[in-house]
Amino acid sequence: MMRYRIPFNRPWLSGNELAYIRQAVENNHISGDGPFTKKCNEFLEGALKVRRAFLTTSCTHALEICALLLNIRPGDEVILPSFTFVSTVNAFVLRGAKPVFADITADTLNLNHTKLEALITPKTKAILAVHYAGVGCEMDAILDIAQRHSISIVEDNAHGLFAKYKNRYLGTFGCLAAQSFHETKNFTSGEGGALLINDDRFIERSEVIREKGTNRSRFFRGQVDKYTWVDIGSSYLPSDILAAFLYAQLESRNEIQTRRARIWNYYYENLQDWARDRNIRMPIAPSYCEQSYHLFYLLLPSLESRSALIRHLRVHGIDAVFHYQPLHLSDMGRSFGGKEGDCPVTEYVSDRLLRLPFYNDLTQVDQEYIVSAIKECKGM
Ligand SMILES: Cc1ncc(COP(=O)(O)O)c(C=O)c1O
Repeated sequence: MMRYRIPFNRPWLSGNELAYIRQAVENNHISGDGPFTKKCNEFLEGALKVRRAFLTTSCTHALEICALLLNIRPGDEVILPSFTFVSTVNAFVLRGAKPVFADITADTLNLNHTKLEALITPKTKAILAVHYAGVGCEMDAILDIAQRHSISIVEDNAHGLFAKYKNRYLGTFGCLAAQSFHETKNFTSGEGGALLINDDRFIERSEVIREKGTNRSRFFRGQVDKYTWVDIGSSYLPSDILAAFLYAQLESRNEIQTRRARIWNYYYENLQDWARDRNIRMPIAPSYCEQSYHLFYLLLPSLESRSALIRHLRVHGIDAVFHYQPLHLSDMGRSFGGKEGDCPVTEYVSDRLLRLPFYNDLTQVDQEYIVSAIKECKGM
């Protein structure tokens, strides 16, 4: 495998991660739901003002829990953007749902709310709002549509922890939301995620589902005298070792977000004139969206120019990557009826989007090097 001078992503320690892991071991509790898991849950509940937050082993697993909580069954339909990670759809297809792929808007690359209503049928159970790059979807319009048709909203907020739409945190709009703490995310435990619950009727069952279908949480609270199998479920608790790592990162929320904002702004300010002159589009966030500074992308004019820029940067030791092949054109997507032309904006963007290296300790010197390498690329 090629080693890059500047990788696409690199894990970063904010300071207390290893000390907290040691503490987790000394606590004699390294399985799930230990003291650090509770600290993380409470941190998220306090910061976001969600009814409950539960750490999970991944965002994928948090989405699987959402599908279980919503009783998704064979024949149900879920609407989601074709421009997303495969887990957004898989979690629901695992329960037998039929995915209905929606296109995205050309500006934020989020669900095109103006096209949603046409996709709703009596079988529609959920709309999956994916906040791409941590820029909020048009939640006012999406909430209105969902309410009028009695459809649940699940937010896939893998990218958008602590971002806001109209002054309200992402992850607080849907009845349920999923976060990711995968290595590439702003806050990480290597692998990890969280389920956010905004509707009380899901709290008790979510405890059961994440505890392998047992009422063990009630047992630990002394509410029942033995625990037993009461529902379907699986093993969704991360080790407290991972929670210890994550808690150190969450505690450094301000530092991490400040670092990432600086990196994002440097790219934006130093590439905007170059991009404008070449018909290359920069990220767009509406004024009422406070983004999470999760990623920085360029939209090149063609597939050829994107491939040329990736190759050029590779020669300079810089790893830049593309994002999301359209789900409706994947093998699985086609098996659900997806075909060319269904989601034209998704198809256009998937061929042209390029993500630049982005990690918490990316230095300004390295960013200068990246920006000048980009500007040297011939034929742009
Ligand atoms: C939009 C989106 N949803 C879900 C996921 C899956 O997250 P995880 O790796 O925590 O399961 C990703 C991963 O990058 C993602 O981009």
